[in-house]
Parts: sequence; structure tokens; C-alpha cells
Amino acid sequence: MKQAISKLLLLGLAAGLATPALADDEEVIKYRKNVMKAYGAHMAAAGAIVQGKVKGSLVGHARAMEATTKNMAAMFPAGSDFGETNALDTVWSKRADFEKRAKDTEAKAAAFAKAAGGSDAAAKFRELSDSCKACHKDYRKEQK
Ligand code: HEC
Repeated sequence: MKQAISKLLLLGLAAGLATPALADDEEVIKYRKNVMKAYGAHMAAAGAIVQGKVKGSLVGHARAMEATTKNMAAMFPAGSDFGETNALDTVWSKRADFEKRAKDTEAKAAAFAKAAGGSDAAAKFRELSDSCKACHKDYRKEQK
């Protein structure tokens, strides 16, 4: 993941230097959608375990969330606001707040990973889930 992030940063840098580096921006958008989809899948899987519907590795899903939510805002470099994206312009115009939301989710994912083996797991799972929703409410186009 660290490597992927560095690559992203490089892409972002390249996009800033070269005039419209559309192809790179498209790759960044595709990449962050795939990462977000992975979050969605891990959270749905973890939710089913938390609700007792299935048995599975809650710790595994929680650790995956912890590992992949680090430096989330880097998936939204300047210039990646055009094309096939559902990110709102506020991702870039209200950057400080956006980054705060990303950090909040990162912290909640770490707390969930820490609690996943214990009795606090369900509560920490819900806090993480609420943190996802809070960002989507303000920074993602409404899903139809
Ligand atoms: C800091 C803000 C932020 C946080 C936190 C965040 N998201 Fe997102 N998410 C977005 C934005 C913005 C998009 C739209 C991305 C795009 O279309 O370029 C998105 C898109 C998605 C998508 C749709 C991906 C697709 O196929 O287009 C899913 C699923 C998703 N997020 C799940 C999650 C989950 C689960 C969490 C919590 C673990 C989470 N997100 C946390 C901002 C956030």
C-alpha cells in the first residue's frame, strides 16, 4: 500500500508538471474507486460478522481497513476532479476539512483493528461506518 501511495503521489506530481495529464488522472480516479469499493466490501463482510450472520475473520477485515485507510486524502490529488468521478468539488475547495474527515476515518479504522478481537468490536465497527458516511454526505455526489 505504501508503494501504491508513493506511486499516486508521483502521478500527482507528474500531473502537476506536465500539462493536462488526463490519462494519469483517469488512473487515479479508477484507483481510488477500487480502493473505496474494497472498503465497501470489507465493511459489508465485517458487518455480517458483527451481526452474527456469518463466521469469519473480523480481525482480518479490520486490519485490512486499518492498512488501507492511511493517507486516504492522497487518493484525491489536484487535477483528479474531472472525468468519471463522483467526488464533489468541495473535496478540493474545502481541502482542510476533507483531510480532517479522512484522518478521522483512518483513526476509527485503527481503533476498530485494535478492538476487533474483543467485546468492543461492534461499537468500533459502527463508529468507523459512521465516519465513512459523514464524508460521503459532504464530499460525494448523491448516489441514485
Ligand atoms: C474523506 C472522505 C471519504 C471517506 C472517509 C470515505 N469515502 Fe468513500 N468516497 C469518497 C468520495 C469523494 C467518493 C467518490 C470517488 C470518485 O468517484 O472519484 C467515494 C466513493 C466510495 C464508494 C464508491 C466507489 C465506486 O465504485 O465508485 C464506496 C463503495 C465507498 N466510497 C465506500 C467507503 C467506505 C466503506 C468508507 C469508510 C471505511 C469510505 N468510503 C470512506 C469519500 C470518502
